[in-house]
Amino acid sequence: MNQLDKIVALAKRRGFVYQSAEIYGGLNGVYDFGHLGTLLKNNIKDAWTQSILTTRSNILFFDGSLLGAHAMWEASGHTQNFSDPLVDCTNCKRRFRADDINLEEQCPVCGKKAWTDVREFQLMFKTNLGAATDSASIAYLRPETAQSIFVQFKNVMSTNRVKIPFGIAQIGKAFRNEITPKQFLFRMREFEQMELEWFCKPDQMDEFFPLWLEARKQFYINLGVHKDRIRMHEHGKNELSHYSSRTTDIEYEFPFGWKELEGVADRGNFDLTQHSKHSGKDLSVHDEKTKTSYIPNVIECSVGVDRLFLTLLCDAYTEDTVGSEERTVLKFSPRIAPIKAAFLPLTKKISDPMHKIYQDIAAKGIMVECDESGSIGKRYRRQDEIGTPLCFTYDFESEKDNSVTVRDRNTTQQKRIAIDRIEQYLADALIP
Ligand code: GAP
Repeated sequence: MNQLDKIVALAKRRGFVYQSAEIYGGLNGVYDFGHLGTLLKNNIKDAWTQSILTTRSNILFFDGSLLGAHAMWEASGHTQNFSDPLVDCTNCKRRFRADDINLEEQCPVCGKKAWTDVREFQLMFKTNLGAATDSASIAYLRPETAQSIFVQFKNVMSTNRVKIPFGIAQIGKAFRNEITPKQFLFRMREFEQMELEWFCKPDQMDEFFPLWLEARKQFYINLGVHKDRIRMHEHGKNELSHYSSRTTDIEYEFPFGWKELEGVADRGNFDLTQHSKHSGKDLSVHDEKTKTSYIPNVIECSVGVDRLFLTLLCDAYTEDTVGSEERTVLKFSPRIAPIKAAFLPLTKKISDPMHKIYQDIAAKGIMVECDESGSIGKRYRRQDEIGTPLCFTYDFESEKDNSVTVRDRNTTQQKRIAIDRIEQYLADALIP
């Protein structure tokens, strides 16, 4: 099994991620998140929100609709430009992204060379609102969260009485009819994005672009991602999206190679200008100092929640040997670990006092687990596999010395601490 297959298997075995509609054969490129996956996702989103708020204070939040008007996607350029090159093999009928394969060579599936012409495939999911099927009823599921921010820019600015520069941040679903969804959560058809659109004056771009790029890189380092698995990639002219004049990707070294994790893009005033033109509404702002109006520029920081989820799984995934036993452990930073600590009575006979301790901690809103079934070794292995930083064990000595053992996930070292110190010990361990 390769590394990615092992991670996919662990994610299912431990209830992080399931294939959508698995009992019906699965929906390709679509996933459901179980208990631990949902907790991990929530921790990722909280950490992202925290990180942008601590970079700059003037950030507003937004939650736009998933369905977007045809006119909006016309204006943004998505109906014309948001496509991937598609090619079919006429022999085995398999379909490929033309930029994923070498058309000078044979089909990687059937070994024949029988390609159709390359054509552009629109990635947006199209639908009709209501019973009508005329062109006026066409709508699209959004392929990025950003556009709803741009079309509401004036409303957000005037109702919140903010001044340039400021940011609008959004976490939400996006949909792309990817030709070949692949590599688990890397390229999905339904996914979540965390996007920040930073509005500033054109002459402030040189100040803010490096500031956001550095802040975004630092975010991953603060989450404990290995520094040597992160690098920057500045787009060449032929890589740029239709709306961008400059983009730097923050790339991560996945088990399948270096790939984009986040894009930091200079969108200039492309989007606001387009929406001004197409809607006929003036989206410029007035500069009190110079008494002139201008359309603000935008720096965009955009990362997929699911892609970061996969990054953190890959980065944390470790196989090591404890004594003579091999184990798998997810070395998550305590901040994003779905379960912060496990409370494990050595045997069921002494589970009551451990339950009481567990319930006191759980009542404080800390995500903890109590597990009393199976051998203590098996329970440690399970907690290692789900990335729980600490395990507290109540044993036969505990009643006499009012202490428990605490085991560190990464080192497996154990030490004894007084029961009345557990809460403080946990709080200290959870500080990033
Ligand atoms: N608003 C800009 C935008 O959407 P993008 O590079 O197409 O730019 C931004 O997407 C981020 O969204 C990517 O860096 C990636 O983290 C995530 N993403 C994009 N397509 C994805 C997909 N099919 N599956 C999972 N994540 C995806």
